[in-house]
Amino acid sequence: MCGIFGYIGTKEALPFLIEGLKKLEYRGYDSSGVATIDKGRLFIEKCAGKISDLEKKINERPIRGPIGIGHTRWATHGQPSDQNSHPHEDCTGLIAVVHNGIIENYLPLRRALADEGHKFLSTTDTEVIAHLIEKYFTKAGQNVPLEEAVRQAMLAVEGSYSIAVLYEKQPNKIVAARKGSPLIIGISEGETFISSDIPAMLKYTSQIIYLNDYEIATITEDGVKVETIHGQKVEKEAVFISWDPESAEKGGYAHFMLKEIHEQPKAIRDTISGRVKVDESFIHFDELNFTEEEARQINRVVFTACGTSWHAGLIGEYLIEQFVKIPAEVEYAAEFRYRHPIVDENTLVIAISQSGETADTLGAVWEAKAQGAKVISICNVVGSSIARESHGIIYTYAGPEIGVASTKAFTTQLTVIYLFALFLAKKRGSISKLEAQKMISDLIAIPDKIEQFLGREKEIEAAAERFSKCSNTLFLGRGKGFPIALEGALKLKEISYIHAEGYPAAEMKHGPIALIDENMPVVVLALAGRRYDKILGNIEEVKARGGIVVAVAVEGDAMVCEKADEVIYIPQTTEALSPILAVIPLQLLAYYIAVKRGCHVDQPRNLAKSVTVE
Ligand code: AGP
Repeated sequence: MCGIFGYIGTKEALPFLIEGLKKLEYRGYDSSGVATIDKGRLFIEKCAGKISDLEKKINERPIRGPIGIGHTRWATHGQPSDQNSHPHEDCTGLIAVVHNGIIENYLPLRRALADEGHKFLSTTDTEVIAHLIEKYFTKAGQNVPLEEAVRQAMLAVEGSYSIAVLYEKQPNKIVAARKGSPLIIGISEGETFISSDIPAMLKYTSQIIYLNDYEIATITEDGVKVETIHGQKVEKEAVFISWDPESAEKGGYAHFMLKEIHEQPKAIRDTISGRVKVDESFIHFDELNFTEEEARQINRVVFTACGTSWHAGLIGEYLIEQFVKIPAEVEYAAEFRYRHPIVDENTLVIAISQSGETADTLGAVWEAKAQGAKVISICNVVGSSIARESHGIIYTYAGPEIGVASTKAFTTQLTVIYLFALFLAKKRGSISKLEAQKMISDLIAIPDKIEQFLGREKEIEAAAERFSKCSNTLFLGRGKGFPIALEGALKLKEISYIHAEGYPAAEMKHGPIALIDENMPVVVLALAGRRYDKILGNIEEVKARGGIVVAVAVEGDAMVCEKADEVIYIPQTTEALSPILAVIPLQLLAYYIAVKRGCHVDQPRNLAKSVTVE
């Protein structure tokens, strides 16, 4: 996820660009850049680092002009660097492009353009857009309207994008286009703004035009013209936005955590995007560096991580053993790194980390490499330390996760682990092509199921009432439900400060059952599977001791509601994918309990988003 901002009017564009990018920094902050046109000349300034680093650069070489575009980056393709920062330009240096999204077919486009003589300066997917626009001008002549060249270029592109383009030879217009990534136009007296979200413009205008998918906007000082990517004119009405800037930064949600819970469908779609082809049961990871031979040599997998990422590793343990049919285990990173682990060149160590900077996990990566293991990592931050220290990397494309409590990073980790298990199983022949095709299709259906469930969010808010005054809770699960019980307990304790414990349901009778009474609500993951009858038995054990049971169960399960005090139904899916759906109600439950208790949901006490110390 990146941030785009643009201005055209009668004042200097640069201050608006910098101010707008600062408000968009939550969308990405590994590099940034601006482009303006001043007296018919295009100027670009960009660099890795924070926007304050960009300001320092611009102070050394001020750039002026009443029209400009800016970008703050969250790297997906191409490490954070000066060259990979946006805006990107074409070979002539007359075109500047900023982009938010993922160009899925950038590699074939880049190869074809390079074959035609185009020289690329970066390793990003975005740069192909600038060269496609240039190619069209070369073919159709320099006087073709910029919007026509952009239209032709975007017809060749697959994937998601919101872009803004400047062209030195047509200095009085910004052309913007979108598909799958947000782009909004702000109208004010004598000036027009574009932005990735509303808050960045609210200071200047509340009159907003939403650009829809497959639409292209041409913005000049005379106003805004919109057409479809196929050239049909589109009439647009500005709408009045009544949000206050504070709530608008969270897209209208009360907290970043709630916003990120709702971003999970898109985050999972983006994480899958460009990596699978169902009909060919094709699964591909760009930067994994993993050969068939290496896949066959692996005789054991060790996941290592901390916190929520460690819970993702627990699910991975089940999936690897179930589909790849080799031993798998999960280690707390801090334990692994100091335990003299027995790993070797046939061991695959998988480090999982949203931030890619967790000190314990980084230490575990170093130890695993020192012991000769092959190390890959699953990270959400491109170019992070753990990513750079690993032999191979698989990125989750969840976008920046601002809330300390990890939500969309977790479900995208589960998505990657599921896909990687299929990838490894296919390379080792432990699942058939037909099985792989079905399992990929099952995964692709998950974001819609999450959206379907999120529509019933109010049910969870009501269920939270039972917990908001309790001091202790238990979360129980079996099989893949057990790691989700742990994750639900972690979510609750870290943002509501209620003591919550996740436990294997079968273990309850070996001690924890002594805790059960009417003041101890118990959340039970009553998921379909071969342990289902046992879970129903566990619910009865709790009820027999006066406990309160809130069950998470699968739609259509009529038995569980006869036993539990409350049931939260999740959509049906396969047993292997049920953890991704089962965690959503627990995220919302923790969120609403914390809100009811007046806790600081996004920055809970004592916690940091990334624990970069041991
Ligand atoms: C999860 O909600 C917590 N914020 C915490 O447990 C987190 O998962 C852990 O610190 C690991 O962080 P990482 O994924 O960035 O390595």
